[in-house]
Amino acid sequence: MALVAMRWHGDGLVMLDQRRLPTEEVWVELRSWREVAKAIEQMVVRGAPAIGVAAAYGMALAARAGEDWNVARAGLAASRPTAVNLFWALDRLDRLSDKSPESVAQAAQQIESEDRAMNEAIGVHGAELVPAEARILTICNTGSLATAGHGTALGIIRTAWAQGKVKHVYSCETRPRQQGLRLTAFELMHDEIPFHSIVDSAAASLMQKGQVDWIVAGADRIAANGDTANKIGTYMLAVLAHHHKIPFVIAAPSSTLDPLQPTGSSIPIEERAADEITEMDGVRIAPAGCPVWNPGFDVTPGELIHAIVTEGGVWRRPYAFRPGDERAEPQARPLTNR
Ligand code: MRU
Repeated sequence: MALVAMRWHGDGLVMLDQRRLPTEEVWVELRSWREVAKAIEQMVVRGAPAIGVAAAYGMALAARAGEDWNVARAGLAASRPTAVNLFWALDRLDRLSDKSPESVAQAAQQIESEDRAMNEAIGVHGAELVPAEARILTICNTGSLATAGHGTALGIIRTAWAQGKVKHVYSCETRPRQQGLRLTAFELMHDEIPFHSIVDSAAASLMQKGQVDWIVAGADRIAANGDTANKIGTYMLAVLAHHHKIPFVIAAPSSTLDPLQPTGSSIPIEERAADEITEMDGVRIAPAGCPVWNPGFDVTPGELIHAIVTEGGVWRRPYAFRPGDERAEPQARPLTNR
């Protein structure tokens, strides 16, 4: 089974339906920006960098069909609110002087190939922080399926594993959509990296038993002060890491930085449908009408994050990302350690 989230084939986009993984490999053909927006909203594709790449291809489809740029842009921008990579990709395409179909498609392909390159670099920088014989805890899916390839947090695990530094991985199942159990487990098995999946609530006990040396998570949006929005449950891990004195690291490409948000309190947090909690595989498990609160993400304060790894290197506390850093293109304006 392929470890890629989508493929552009010149006049269309095919996407692996991540809702069906790992039991079924179903590829869907998307022919319009509207179909791409719906696919992002319904989480056929998910993971901040992959959402950005998908949105760029959505604009390429809009340009091919001669659709109104602003209407398509607004429709794609409304698909999911938290992952800033979506808006980063759309902004970048807005700045194209030539918005011909060929030029937009080429820019989208470039966004995809740059993301892959950024992840490889994140892997190299991050692996330097991984202790020998590391037992690493992670959450959600931050691998090839969530990006253009290799992954961010999972990319560091991949690189560190190739260097012989990883002893074991613990992967949180990631309620309620189980990205850890369904997708990260699938990727770890694909790469033959030894691991256990755990329920999210087992993380505290695992740390208490001294079984975790290092924790790494991805990000959907990072504010100027390092406050980081990521999958719900990430903040809980950071608080536990602080208590147990375990390094807690965030990995993300510079396209996930949003220095226009001074702190995490202004990051929009997506609230998702109640049935994600009240149902399992379409079967209701809660009392009818059970009220739920289902935020898709939480915000980890920058002060709980030991390091933020981007393609430019390792950023340390206190974080002070500047407007402009998120626009940095790896070749043109490398981010430096500060
Ligand atoms: O709701 P999802 O599955 O899109 O959430 C994904 C995450 O929270 C990831 O950790 C984040 O997007 C980084 S993916 C490299």
